[in-house]
Amino acid sequence: MKPLRHKTIQHYIAEPIQESWRMPLHHPSPRFKEYQRAQKILLSTPTLSSDLCEVLQNRTSSRVFTKKITKEQLSGLLYWSLGLLEKGETKHRTYPSGGGFYPLEAYLAIDFVEGIDSGVYHYNVRENTLELLPFVNAAEIIEALKLENTNIESPSLALLLSFVEQRSHHKYGVFSNKLGLLEAGHVGQNLYLVAAALGFGICGLGLGEKVHSLNQQLRLDGENECVVYGFAIGG
Ligand SMILES: Cc1cc2nc3c(=O)[nH]c(=O)nc-3n(C[C@H](O)[C@H](O)[C@H](O)COP(=O)(O)O)c2cc1C
Repeated sequence: MKPLRHKTIQHYIAEPIQESWRMPLHHPSPRFKEYQRAQKILLSTPTLSSDLCEVLQNRTSSRVFTKKITKEQLSGLLYWSLGLLEKGETKHRTYPSGGGFYPLEAYLAIDFVEGIDSGVYHYNVRENTLELLPFVNAAEIIEALKLENTNIESPSLALLLSFVEQRSHHKYGVFSNKLGLLEAGHVGQNLYLVAAALGFGICGLGLGEKVHSLNQQLRLDGENECVVYGFAIGG
């Protein structure tokens, strides 16, 4: 039988595909990513009360945005889509994850969100904070996405999901990339539904070749951590 060859995330998202020798992945990386020295913005944990049928009916892709969203709305979106929720004595999340390793990270290129300075931020799940990444330009990221998707107009922000392979590779080996993409789909549906519940718009973005420049801008190596999915969000 032909041995399984290791596949990087690029196999699933973009050409060209090059096999490359990689660092050993059998040691899991920490479960939470944190930019310790970053300037942090604490987010709130707003309640969400909506009729599920109504939310599902209202789920749609919006591409033209006319209003800006608020810090409170963004807090709700992140907390209910990606956040660490209290459940009795334990914490859990609103989406499933193979093995419970939660290998996804979220970055936000904020153009205009009322109550938050524009900039690129990492969502720190454990603290429910935004960590400012001063080395990235938010306008450049948003403009690049708009060039790729000319139907997108005036988003408040772009949200990018990345996959950290080392978090789950020790258990799932060559399949960890595929599981990461499945998980990104779960998070994507959460984002769509929470946006519908909160009354603002969102559109999933496949990104294609753009992932390479986005990785560079966010200083991700594109091997162990790679952008996999994007969203334009606005009112
Ligand atoms: C993985 C994925 C990638 C997508 N990429 C894009 C995109 O790059 N540009 C775009 O305008 N819409 C994109 N969409 C949105 C789809 O076009 C949209 O979901 C589809 O037309 C159905 O419309 P609806 O979401 O309003 O029901 C994407 C959706 C998914 C799930």
